[in-house]
Amino acid sequence: MTLSLSLTVNGERHDIELEDARPTLLDVLRERLGLTDTKKGCDRGQCGACTVLLDGRRVNSCLTLAMSADGAAVTTIEGVADGGTLHPVQAAFIENDAFQCGYCTPGQIMSAIGLIAEGDAGTDPERIREGMSGNICRCAAYPGITDAVLDAQT
Ligand code: FES
Repeated sequence: MTLSLSLTVNGERHDIELEDARPTLLDVLRERLGLTDTKKGCDRGQCGACTVLLDGRRVNSCLTLAMSADGAAVTTIEGVADGGTLHPVQAAFIENDAFQCGYCTPGQIMSAIGLIAEGDAGTDPERIREGMSGNICRCAAYPGITDAVLDAQT
């Protein structure tokens, strides 16, 4: 039985046919829509590399069945810049050297955007680290990431 999935991704509606209900949102974004800037790290909810916004809330897209997002609005890292102008969080990551290898960066930025939008970032570095704790950086660029989240709010 074919399933019909409707997603609005970065403002564009996509109607997608799935063979079954098993594909994750991450796999649909990457393999069906070609949005490969959302990264697959662990594929089991441990690293945060796959973070996207689902109706404005942060989710690990590797843990989200695509069908459970039917009718929802998804924002990926490809959708946050305004034309040639970086999102303030993207600019703050560059300004604060908040990455090294860059693999986790799309997820870090989406998580930071979600955290700030949720109103939970605050100006306490400890609170920001707690709020970003679902996003692992193997290069340990955490001080820059925390500074970037602080800067993006000023
Ligand atoms: Fe989803 Fe690691 S790839 S949490």
